[in-house]
Amino acid sequence: MTHSAWRMGFHLMPPTGWLNDPNGLCQFDGTYHVFHQYSPTWPEPHAPRGWGHATSRDLVHWEHHGMVICPDTPDEASGSYSGCAVEVGEGATRRLRLYYTGNVKEQGDFDYVRTGRRAAQILIESPDGFELGEKRVLLRNADYPADCTCHVRDPKVWRDADGTWWMILGARNIDDCGMVLALRSDDGIVWHNSHEIRSDEPFGFMWECPDRIVLDGRAFLSCCPQGMADRPWAHGMRDQSGYFTLPEGCDLTDTNLKIDVSTFRLWDAGFDFYAPQTFVDEQGRTLLIGWMGMPEAPFESAPDGLDWCHCLTVPRVLARLADGAIVQQPAPELEQLREAEEALVPLGATVLEGRRHDIEVLGTEGPFSLTLDGALRLAFDGEQLSLAFIGNDASLIGAGRTERTCPLDKLTDLRILIDGSAVEIFANGGRIAMATRWFPTAESLVVALEGSSMSVHAWQMGDGMHSTYA
Ligand code: FRU
Repeated sequence: MTHSAWRMGFHLMPPTGWLNDPNGLCQFDGTYHVFHQYSPTWPEPHAPRGWGHATSRDLVHWEHHGMVICPDTPDEASGSYSGCAVEVGEGATRRLRLYYTGNVKEQGDFDYVRTGRRAAQILIESPDGFELGEKRVLLRNADYPADCTCHVRDPKVWRDADGTWWMILGARNIDDCGMVLALRSDDGIVWHNSHEIRSDEPFGFMWECPDRIVLDGRAFLSCCPQGMADRPWAHGMRDQSGYFTLPEGCDLTDTNLKIDVSTFRLWDAGFDFYAPQTFVDEQGRTLLIGWMGMPEAPFESAPDGLDWCHCLTVPRVLARLADGAIVQQPAPELEQLREAEEALVPLGATVLEGRRHDIEVLGTEGPFSLTLDGALRLAFDGEQLSLAFIGNDASLIGAGRTERTCPLDKLTDLRILIDGSAVEIFANGGRIAMATRWFPTAESLVVALEGSSMSVHAWQMGDGMHSTYA
């Protein structure tokens, strides 16, 4: 087994280097653009962080274009951080605007919370997503409200039906509470502070990567609250990623909006998921892509000296259920990569050739488990769904990952995407998603099923990423 078998075939990743947050997600003239936080020279210490760029016509076959936004101006000396893409103009003047945060850490004796850090919001225009115009600084720390610390970043920009431009920024206030700043503009260039979006009770010290989602007329605030390790559901992780449901008829533009923290739901119950971003594609679908990694994780994502680290999740189509939950399902385009259907025995173990598979289990009843290579076990016991590394090789194959659980009273169906060292699981029509990395050591995959299920299908999957590193 070579390390190249740990590369992904349908989870976006760069040829080498470090990847984190998805940025600037959009579809423009049919082409899907996925930018992402990228340090191509990682693992070199202090490798510069900018935006990598990948494109696809079908969300399945990707081309990677390297680092396209570099931290090469004084306002982003310590990194061209996360941001978004918005379309503007008509006809011949139609173009993309990329908004992102320039991060600067001053040299000296600073706490880097109240002092020593600068966060500028920067704009680049592009006629096509490839050719990038001049950088223009739109906002600096002095422009944010006085109760902000230096942590203000990750712009998400949209336009209202009446043409007003809105920007939300993740922020940490001087009381160390996470919040969102809302700014408004007539042209997307000159911005004015509008209001602060805070929660009814403290919910972490900083909210990273805020996003606004609207599904069937209902608005949601997605964000990544930091400082959550002591919550009973947090598995000890400082940083979490989820969404708040806004009251019916409310939006982030309401100046007296208060976030009800009891509506918070995690996006993903697996080990490796953070900083997702959504966009609406040309078919009107809301798609979410997350970083399949975690800041400050107590486990490894590049064991054995790999010269690349992390990948993104597959694009997930979002839909809203009547009970308020958002379901996430892999974009149907992924089915294009299905090759030969593989016979998988519904009970017992099957050996599948290769390391890329799409498995569908329908009609499960009662306790159920699916174990991969005797090491990664997904189990439902009537009360919870758990994902755990087990057996003698647990610490090697999990690279420090142990167990994740989430409450569940009935398991009806599963979709499991296995792709090199990435696994994504969708349960009950996408009500639960679980993303994890793993580092298997065998050439073929052993899938063992226990419990009852009506039907099981498995397909070998092709490689949509080959042109990024061949
Ligand atoms: C989230 C994050 C963002 C920031 C980026 C830097 O993972 O910390 O807040 O813009 O990563 O790479």
